[in-house]
Amino acid sequence: MPSTTAVSTKDGATYTTSTGAPVLEPYAVQKLGQTGPLLLQDFHHIDLIAHFDRERIPERVVHAKGAGAHGYFEVTHDISDLTCANLFSKVGNKAPATVRFSTVGGESGSADTARDPRGFAVKIKTQEGILDLVGNNTPVFFLRDPSKFPHFIHTQKRDPQTHLKDADMFWDYLSLNPESVHQVMILFSDRGTPDGYHNMHGYVGHTLKFVQADGTFSYVQIHFRKEGGWKSLTNDVATKLAGENPEYGIQTMFEDIEKGNFPTWNVYVQTMTPEQAEKFRYNILDLTKVWPHGEYPLRPVGKLVLNKNPDNYFAEVEQAAFSPSHQVPGIEPSTDPVLQSRFFSYPDTHRHRLGVNYNQLPVNKPINPVANFQRDGFMAIDNQGWRPNYQSSLIPLEYKAKPYQQAKHEEWLGYAGADLSFITELDFEQPRALWEKVFSDTDKDHYVSNVAGHLGSVKSPEVKKRQLSVFAAVSQDLSDRIAKAIGHESVPPLKVAPASEAIRFKYKGTA
Ligand code: HEM
Repeated sequence: MPSTTAVSTKDGATYTTSTGAPVLEPYAVQKLGQTGPLLLQDFHHIDLIAHFDRERIPERVVHAKGAGAHGYFEVTHDISDLTCANLFSKVGNKAPATVRFSTVGGESGSADTARDPRGFAVKIKTQEGILDLVGNNTPVFFLRDPSKFPHFIHTQKRDPQTHLKDADMFWDYLSLNPESVHQVMILFSDRGTPDGYHNMHGYVGHTLKFVQADGTFSYVQIHFRKEGGWKSLTNDVATKLAGENPEYGIQTMFEDIEKGNFPTWNVYVQTMTPEQAEKFRYNILDLTKVWPHGEYPLRPVGKLVLNKNPDNYFAEVEQAAFSPSHQVPGIEPSTDPVLQSRFFSYPDTHRHRLGVNYNQLPVNKPINPVANFQRDGFMAIDNQGWRPNYQSSLIPLEYKAKPYQQAKHEEWLGYAGADLSFITELDFEQPRALWEKVFSDTDKDHYVSNVAGHLGSVKSPEVKKRQLSVFAAVSQDLSDRIAKAIGHESVPPLKVAPASEAIRFKYKGTA
């Protein structure tokens, strides 16, 4: 056997097995003689192959492709009148942050420039625990009833038989679920193909609650606005890049951070009192609607800066586990049903994807000490030493939770089974405003061409006609322009209930 005087690399490391034993020749297996069988005693080889066999973990079921970086969140404006969260106790407070951006529908090897919403997941490590804000680059979403989510996602992924993406099932779902049209208006504009991951705004989308120490609270929407504005790609450029450089988003963000061009977002909140929320035209728990900035202005809060690339993508980005349910005292969920469903879904999938102790992985670990009665399980990295694993009178744990958590904020009485997806004229007002008031002439041309390029490939005449009727309910002009572009006759608007029949928001009383 050769001697094991291993050569060290520039960081002083020498090549070893996973148990730290130096290995002289990584590229050689132990075998009998010159050509003989391998030896089972060769721990190095078995260690190597067995670990390799287990390298892959499940990719995220959605948002599988993404890029991440580290930085910080800094409080720039006083909002201590809104929340008692320790993070916001004074201007200048800084907390380390990790951010992951992603596409939604594609697998982990898919192109960064695909037409898709982009995930915008922010992890802030506060002195009171982890605050995750897990939003998208769009303020609205395709649905407001979470029971639709897995079905919807199936239609945006691959057909079970052909294993192909399928325009028919894509538009079949959207046309049958017209509350999606606001998101579709954004998705098929050029904002559906952002220029890289770091040139876009981010939105929590859901209404959250900011709570003060005395238990009073406001409903809030949180916005991340990219300094310098968002940039998007035209469909042609995005399609070309998808072929030539599918990693365009990861690459451009990595390079900008390496060059010292640190992506920065200014963070704002919109707020509503419970009384204002009851009078608001739309249900604040309806994720398909925005709060008009004119009525509910953006109030500055802080800034988010990304100034450090990961040293190791897998450890610091792939293993990052974001969840809307990772909240801190002073910031609470609203009863938005989609948000509530997500509260279950994310930690559940983390346990499956990363294991029960996912919050002990370095990227997910809080900076403040964790003390509770959870113990053991696979990969218990920090098992809390000698501390008792129950409420012991001998070595008691101190409880310091803020008292407002017991406060009664909202009360409901109601019947089970309300149809959250009931469509009314209200569902078309904001999409119509985009088409009529926000889109420029160029935006309109791009929109029509982007939709026509996709909807035009649908084989089912019913699906095409139905989606055109949804667009006609937004605007007959919009629908007719798309119809013309795909060689279809004009289609009348989908018939829907009047706005007066829409579900109204109440924070107390009978729902
Ligand atoms: C990722 C479920 C709606 C934003 C995920 C993942 C699941 C999931 C299972 C994979 C998480 C992981 O493996 O780490 C759901 C369900 C939804 C829903 C059940 C609705 C019922 C939304 C909405 C938003 C959103 C409305 C934005 C407002 C994200 C983001 C990620 C993600 C940003 C990627 C997080 C990361 O980078 O690790 N979602 N989602 N999702 N979702 Fe959702």
